[in-house]
Amino acid sequence: MTLNARWTSLALGIAAASGAAACNDKKKPEAVPPPPATTTQAATDVKPKVELPHDLGKMPIPEDNPQTDAKVALGHQLFFDKRLSADGSRSCYSCHLNEDGNGGKEPKAIGALNKQLPRHSPVIWNVGYLGAFYWDGRSASLEDQATAAWAGGNMGVGKDNLDKKAAEIEKISEYKKQFGEVFPKEGVTPATIVKAIAAYERTLVCDDTAYDKYAKGDDSALSQQQKAGLELFLGKGGCTVCHTPPFFSSAFSVKEGVYFNTGLGTKDKKEEDVDVGRQAVTKKDGDWAAFKIPSLRNVAKSAPYFHDGSVASLEEAVRLMAAGGLKNKNLTPVLTDKKLTDEEIKSIVQFLSALDCNKSLEEPKLP
Ligand code: HEC
Ligand code: HEC
Repeated sequence: MTLNARWTSLALGIAAASGAAACNDKKKPEAVPPPPATTTQAATDVKPKVELPHDLGKMPIPEDNPQTDAKVALGHQLFFDKRLSADGSRSCYSCHLNEDGNGGKEPKAIGALNKQLPRHSPVIWNVGYLGAFYWDGRSASLEDQATAAWAGGNMGVGKDNLDKKAAEIEKISEYKKQFGEVFPKEGVTPATIVKAIAAYERTLVCDDTAYDKYAKGDDSALSQQQKAGLELFLGKGGCTVCHTPPFFSSAFSVKEGVYFNTGLGTKDKKEEDVDVGRQAVTKKDGDWAAFKIPSLRNVAKSAPYFHDGSVASLEEAVRLMAAGGLKNKNLTPVLTDKKLTDEEIKSIVQFLSALDCNKSLEEPKLP
């Protein structure tokens, strides 16, 4: 059995809410309703069902970094503070912007010192529920991820310069005071800086979409076309196998994430030029050019799409997924051509806008 095939059954298992491999203390997702018998029946027949998963459950909080209001407030400021970057040009927020659904606008992000990065900035709503971070899942905690973003190309500081940067932050008296209160023993260090940022990120919860309201029983929360789109998403389109509610990605239910090769990033490229994705982490052939299933919450606001930002419109992204992805030597067999009509594609696109998060990140006052 190839790894991809194993994942297939894993993801399908999750879709069926078997609960296997679910994250530690997280509530298991409720059952996903089985695909409707006929997908052409009138959308009005789709009633809000209690079985539509919408409860995100309890977020796992690491024992060594408990949430406190003061810590979250400090992390909020640091997330928005460009002084954390090598050249004062970037904050974390620079690439996770409200106007881009809190992803990035560049197809591939451009880091501090104007360094071109290899991938697109993802939406980070609900990241506190993930067990594996980045498109390839190479980072296992928000604290580690924040350290990597800060030291690496995103913020450009460099691993060896984090202490120096922390010392610069300590010179800002208001920060020094806040760190003294939040981390009385440690003060301002690279470790406390990333702990505060991670604590703030754990407050970025998106659970109030039109879909959530509908799932809770508000029939008026979705338009007729959105209801038809939801039905296609759950049924004929086969999207829930991977984009499993309530997170609209099964990667949130498996500690190490869930990855598939959908062919994105392989088109018209020599094999050696392809971003190998998950394979760089696991070294396994079956993981070649496989990427983490992204959440689709806020997706309508977060163009361009995919790990390489190669698709500009949501309609095109949906069309590509529904048509079975892009042919390449490792394309997952789970993704097949669903032969959807133009109108069906448009309904799914309409449904995806029912996943808009009705919140935005607030700009804090910086010291
Ligand atoms: C220059 C743009 C840029 C900056 C600045 C930036 N990021 Fe990102 N962020 C990205 C990109 C691109 C990725 C995906 C990279 C990859 O998968 O290899 C990412 C991924 C992430 C993820 C993982 C999300 C997931 O679904 O796995 C988190 C969390 C995150 N960033 C938070 C931060 C934090 C915290 C900071 C500040 C310390 C930061 N980012 C700064 C571009 C940026
Ligand atoms: C086999 C699992 C699988 C199935 C089935 C699937 N997707 Fe995906 N989807 C993925 C993966 C993996 C990615 C990321 C691919 C990449 O960037 O390389 C993705 C990316 C996307 C994106 C881009 C999101 C972003 O933030 O960039 C959209 C939109 C999307 N899928 C919609 C759909 C729709 C609609 C369906 C059903 C017609 C569907 N997908 C079926 C695995 C799947």
